[in-house]
Amino acid sequence: MKASGTEGYGETADALVKRYESLSFADVHRETLHLFPMAPSRVLDVGAGTGRDAAALAALGHTVVAVEPTPELRAHGQRLHRDAAIIWIDDALPDLDKVPARGERFDLVMLTAVWMHLDLGQRERAMARIAALLRPGALVTLLLRHGPVPVGRRMFEVSAAETRALAAHHGLEIIHDSERPALLGDSAVWWSVLALRAPA
Ligand SMILES: C[S@@+](CC[C@H](N)C(=O)[O-])C[C@H]1O[C@@H](n2cnc3c(N)ncnc32)[C@H](O)[C@@H]1O
Repeated sequence: MKASGTEGYGETADALVKRYESLSFADVHRETLHLFPMAPSRVLDVGAGTGRDAAALAALGHTVVAVEPTPELRAHGQRLHRDAAIIWIDDALPDLDKVPARGERFDLVMLTAVWMHLDLGQRERAMARIAALLRPGALVTLLLRHGPVPVGRRMFEVSAAETRALAAHHGLEIIHDSERPALLGDSAVWWSVLALRAPA
């Protein structure tokens, strides 16, 4: 059974791979890049897509686990970034069943353009799961998409305010909150950029 939130991705994966890989890691994360760990760290990229960010972080010396539930996107990522030391996992929010089973905690968790695929109940469960996977002082970054829902996708309107409240409920401090226009030229779409910090 398909993980909820992945509707519409498998069918369009061949076109999406070009869009996702046309962006650079540095550009996608330009507002929060200065907060990322410099020393080799453990990174979890959830909804990693084609692995653009996972590969960039692996190249910087981090140990990267990429969670991607859409098989077609995962296959593209494994092919495109076959030389990158990325640990790919077929898993999904909200529960991330396989990740906690690894007994690993992370210094950086990235939720790039994925949170809005979860409904409210799933977002509440997912934040609890993520919070439990963090090392002291860990960073969590989120990019929340706003605007018209592409045909065939399952997406919800998710506000930065709700995400901040959810994060605070789990003891995470909000250290960045801004908005930006779409990077890929759709003027009806805009993004919230959030960064959260776990207690040290
Ligand atoms: C808009 S894409 C973003 C991909 C990548 N993070 C990037 O920035 O290029 C959203 C990704 O979230 C994944 N996704 C959808 N539902 C998910 C879920 N429930 N758990 C984890 N990932 C999910 C999709 O398969 C897709 O790869």
